[in-house]
Amino acid sequence: MKALELAVPLLLAKSRGATIEIPRSVPNNASEILDRSYLGLAIEGRDFTNYTGSSSAPNRFSVNMFSTFFNITGATTYIRLGGTTTDNFYYDPNQAEAITTVQPELANNERSERRLHAPFTIGKAWLDGLRVLPNVKWDFQIPLARANLSNAVLFCRDSLAAMGDAFNSFEFGNEPDLYNATGPAEGVNDRPDSYGPKDYVQEYNEWTAAIAGNLSLSGPQFQALALSNFAADPWSEETAFNAGLAKEKTKTVSEHYYQSRSGRSLQGTLMNHRETVTQSDRRFKDRIQYMKRAHPDIPFVIGEAAASLGNNSGIPDYDLAASLGTALWTIDWILYTMTLGAKRVNMQLGTRFAFSPWQPIEATIGGRLRPAQTLGSFYGNVFVAELIGREKDLQVAEFGSGDQDVVGYGAYNSGVLSKVALVDLQLWRRSFMTPRPNVTVTLTGLDAQRVRVEKLTGPDGGAQAEEISWAGKQWTAQSEGLPVVVGGGSESVEVRGGSVDVLIQASEALLLSLL
Ligand SMILES: *[C@@H]1O[C@H](CO)[C@@H](O)[C@H](O)[C@H]1NC(C)=O
Ligand SMILES: *[C@@H]1O[C@H](CO)[C@@H](O)[C@H](O)[C@H]1NC(C)=O
Ligand SMILES: *[C@@H]1O[C@H](CO)[C@@H](O)[C@H](O)[C@H]1NC(C)=O
Ligand SMILES: *[C@@H]1O[C@H](CO)[C@@H](O)[C@H](O)[C@H]1NC(C)=O
Ligand SMILES: *[C@@H]1O[C@H](CO)[C@@H](O)[C@H](O)[C@H]1NC(C)=O
Ligand SMILES: *[C@@H]1O[C@H](CO)[C@@H](O)[C@H](O)[C@H]1NC(C)=O
Ligand SMILES: *[C@@H]1O[C@H](CO)[C@@H](O)[C@H](O)[C@H]1NC(C)=O
Repeated sequence: MKALELAVPLLLAKSRGATIEIPRSVPNNASEILDRSYLGLAIEGRDFTNYTGSSSAPNRFSVNMFSTFFNITGATTYIRLGGTTTDNFYYDPNQAEAITTVQPELANNERSERRLHAPFTIGKAWLDGLRVLPNVKWDFQIPLARANLSNAVLFCRDSLAAMGDAFNSFEFGNEPDLYNATGPAEGVNDRPDSYGPKDYVQEYNEWTAAIAGNLSLSGPQFQALALSNFAADPWSEETAFNAGLAKEKTKTVSEHYYQSRSGRSLQGTLMNHRETVTQSDRRFKDRIQYMKRAHPDIPFVIGEAAASLGNNSGIPDYDLAASLGTALWTIDWILYTMTLGAKRVNMQLGTRFAFSPWQPIEATIGGRLRPAQTLGSFYGNVFVAELIGREKDLQVAEFGSGDQDVVGYGAYNSGVLSKVALVDLQLWRRSFMTPRPNVTVTLTGLDAQRVRVEKLTGPDGGAQAEEISWAGKQWTAQSEGLPVVVGGGSESVEVRGGSVDVLIQASEALLLSLL
C-alpha cells in the first residue's frame, strides 16, 4: 500500500487558476513610450577582444549573438564598454598587442596588483574591436582611476576615430563611489579617503572640457556617474548636479545593478518578484524621479546590470546566474525597470562571468576548461527583445495576476495591446520528485481573434542553456550563434468572447501575441 500512499498528494493536486482582466486602455501606471533600444549590453573592457575578435578575424559566434537583438527589434543595440578593468587602462598607441598585462611604467609607490590599478595596457589593435559589430552604438568609458588626463585624451581621440558614427557617448569613470573604499589594505589609492561627489564633479568638469576641446565635440556627449551597485548618499545625481556637474556636457547619467550574490538562493533572491520590486525601487525610484523632475532632458541609464555579483572561491554560481531561473529574472527585472522610467539597461558581458549572456571563447573558469557557450541569461534577453518587437510607440505595463507566482506584463503599441508576457517564478526542479506545478491563466477583455503562444522553457528551473529553448529555438556556439530549431515552437489559440486560457508551468515564461 506504500505506493498508493505516496500517490495521494498527486490525486489531491488541483489545477490552479488565475485571471488577468486586460485593461482596455493603457493603464495609468504603464511606462512612458519606450526607446526600442531599451535592451542594451555592456562589455567588461578587459574581455572586449574576446567578444569581438578583430575585423580581419571576427568572433563569428559572438558577432551573431550580438546581432540577434537588432534582428528582432530592428533597433540599434547600445553597448557600454567599460568596467573596473577599463577604469585602470593605460593607453599606449605604440604597443603592437591589443592588450597586455604588463605596466610600462609604475610611479614610485604603485603596486601592480592594486584593485584600482588592474595592470592592463591597451594598444591600437584593441580599438579595432570597435569596427567589428554592425548596428551598434558605443558608450565608451574613459579610464579615470589612474588620473592621467593626457592619456585619456589620446585614448578618446583614437577610439572616436575607430567608432565613427557608432559613437554615442564617452562615460566618465567607473563606480567612483568606491574609489575611497580602496584603502591601503588593498594598495595605494589615487584618491583620498575623503573623495566624494564634489571631487568627482571637479574632475568631470575639467576632463570633459579638455576632451571635448581636443576632439572638437560640442553639446552633451558624456555619460556621468556610473555609480556602483552600492551607491548610497552622498553619491547621487542630486548631489552631483548640486555640486555643479556640467549639465551642458551630460547626455545621460548611469548607475549599476546586481540583484543577488553567489551562493544565495535562486527562489529567494531572483525568482522572486517582491524582491525584484523592493530592491529596484530602493535603488532607483527616487533617483529616476529626481532626474525627471530636475533634468528631464537627461535620461537615466542602468548602464551595467546582471543577476548576481561575486563567486564562491573563484567558482561562478551557474545555478544562480546562468540558469532558466536567471532568464526568468532577466525578463521580470527588465520589464519592471521599464515601468520605473529608465531609458535603457545594459546587461553585462564578461568572459568569466556566469551571469553573462554568453561566454565568447574557450576559457578556464573556476579551475575548469569551459568551451565557448551560450549561458542562461541570454534567453531572458531574447524574450525581452521579442516583447519589444518592431512596432512603434511601445509602452509596458505590469498586470496583477492574482497568483503569487505568476507575473504578467502587457506591451501596448500606439495605445493598443499587442503582447502579454507571463512569467511563472515558482522554482521547480527535477530533484524535488514532485509533479511540476502549473497555473491556468485566463485572460479576459482581449480584442483579438487568436493569440500566438511562444514559450521560454526547459526541463527544470535550474536548467542550463543547453536545455533551454525559446519559441522552439536554441542559439549555440556550434551553430555560431545562429538559431537552431529544436521543436515545440509556438501554438495558436482561439479567443472566445474576448477570453483565452493558457497553461503555464512553474519556472517558465510565455509570450502571447494578439493576432
Ligand atoms: C497541471 O497540473 C495539474 C495538477 O497538478 C495536473 O493534473 C496536470 O496534469 C498538469 N498539466 C500539465 C499540462 O502539466
Ligand atoms: C581574451 O582576452 C584576454 C585579456 O583579458 C587576452 O589576453 C586574450 O588574448 C584574449 N583571447 C582571445 C582569444 O581573444
Ligand atoms: C540576422 O538577419 C540576417 C538577415 O536576415 C541573417 O542573415 C542573419 O543570419 C541573422 N542573424 C541572426 C543572429 O539571427
Ligand atoms: C587638450 O588636453 C589637454 C590635456 O591633455 C588640456 O590641457 C588642454 O587644455 C586640452 N585642450 C583643449 C583645447 O581643451
Ligand atoms: C600619462 O599619459 C601620458 C600620455 O600618454 C604619458 O606620456 C605619461 O607618461 C603618463 N603619466 C603617467 C604617470 O603614467
Ligand atoms: C567613503 O565614503 C563613504 C560615503 O560615500 C563613507 O561612508 C566612508 O566612510 C568612506 N570611506 C573612507 C575609507 O573614508
Ligand atoms: C500597476 O497596476 C497593477 C494593477 O493594479 C498592479 O498589479 C501593478 O503592480 C502595478 N505596477 C506598478 C509597476 O506599479
